[in-house]
Amino acid sequence: MARVLCQLADLDATGAKEIVLDNNGARFPVFVVKAGDGIIGYVNSCPHVRLPLNWKEDGFLDISGTFIFCANHGAHFDVRTGLCLRGPCKGQSLVPYPVRIEGEAIVEAAVVEEAGP
Ligand code: FES
Repeated sequence: MARVLCQLADLDATGAKEIVLDNNGARFPVFVVKAGDGIIGYVNSCPHVRLPLNWKEDGFLDISGTFIFCANHGAHFDVRTGLCLRGPCKGQSLVPYPVRIEGEAIVEAAVVEEAGP
């Protein structure tokens, strides 16, 4: 069963939502963001100096709502690809975190391999 990250409605206020996962005791922050009719997930770590992108809760988009924005030094990323288009890490990309929509929820899309013969 896929792990639920949040509800679709959780993105209504800002267009994005941060989720801090617990991966075997390690803090692992990711965020999901609206991209057209879909949702895309990324690890919340800027490729510039590996800081979290947001200073405000769930604040991942620039003022126009068009680009993912890093609050630290102003990098702008394409929402659909995670590629930095402007800023100190231009040409580098956010690390994708696969998610999918299941009903009204956003869930992890990681493939779980079953043990077999
Ligand atoms: S840490 Fe993101 S632009 Fe510097």
